[in-house]
Amino acid sequence: MTDFKSQEFRHALGAFTTGVTIVTTCDADGEPVGVTANSFNSVSLDPPLVLWSIAKTARSLGAFAHSGHWTVHVLSAEQEGLSDRFARRGEDKFAGLETETGSNGCPLLTGCAARFQCRTSFEYDGGDHLILVGEVVAFDREDKAPLVFHGGRYALATRKGGESPAADEPHSFSEDFLGYLVGRAHYQFLGALRGELEEQGLTDPEFFALSTLLQRGTQSQAALDELMRHSGFLPQFSPLTRLAARHLLEAQTVEGAPGYALTASGRAVVVRLVAVAKAREADLVEKLGQWDARVLKNLLKQMIALTDNGTVKVWHPQDGRAA
Ligand SMILES: Cc1cc2nc3c(=O)[nH]c(=O)nc-3n(C[C@H](O)[C@H](O)[C@H](O)COP(=O)(O)O)c2cc1C
Repeated sequence: MTDFKSQEFRHALGAFTTGVTIVTTCDADGEPVGVTANSFNSVSLDPPLVLWSIAKTARSLGAFAHSGHWTVHVLSAEQEGLSDRFARRGEDKFAGLETETGSNGCPLLTGCAARFQCRTSFEYDGGDHLILVGEVVAFDREDKAPLVFHGGRYALATRKGGESPAADEPHSFSEDFLGYLVGRAHYQFLGALRGELEEQGLTDPEFFALSTLLQRGTQSQAALDELMRHSGFLPQFSPLTRLAARHLLEAQTVEGAPGYALTASGRAVVVRLVAVAKAREADLVEKLGQWDARVLKNLLKQMIALTDNGTVKVWHPQDGRAA
């Protein structure tokens, strides 16, 4: 008997950060079975052994206890939806999924960070769980950012930047101030674009208006104002009339309201500038690495959502809004 509350025990266990896996096998009828599990761990290099544990209440307990084979899929950061799917009881978890069959006969999922095909070596009673130890008979891996689980929530992993300068006083309005960091990062990042903008005689708001029209297509003036409101450029510096005077935009009626479209020369100018910005991004992503770039974007999206006072989304719905 224990004298502590199980909820608090769970909470404390959640302090231990893990990856997330899906373990698959086949039941006695040969049907595919799978569960989401974060109890996975490495055990031994020689012989190659891994373990995980399955709740005795899991519907798939029998299949895992008797099949003699199972495959652990270490999920990548993109596979949160798959994790949720295999954590739900009683639905057809494999419906619509493309799977292969591994050399151990178990279903193989794709797009994972690593996969370990195993043969059961030992089974141990583990209280309300059954502990399965397996010998790895085959494995593969892909260079993908892993999905992480901490404190009952999904997370992303980032490397600690060892050489970044130490934080100074906690509330100082300087090098550790978020506004300074975001602002400096923005100016340095777009530094490569500055010369190009000057060459074209374009201001920041003008480039912003052109790239918004490139991304969104023809817009009414009201919609454009709304899309640009978060920049703080409006209404004093509305760039639209000047761009139209330069024949980079042309006035058009959009659903009965005044609006603007890119002209051919406006499109050519902005496509070139966007290409420079994209090349800058590719260069930075290469230096940061895909994982950290993803974490950085995730945090910036959260910051945008948290500081947004009602302006419309600047990215498309399928990119998702920061949680
Ligand atoms: C991140 C995460 C980790 C989990 N880890 C385990 C685990 O290690 N062992 C386990 O039995 N269940 C684990 N679960 C719960 C099972 O995935 C869930 O109970 C599932 O419905 C079991 O499927 P079944 O009842 O169809 O067998 C986890 C769920 C999540 C979301």
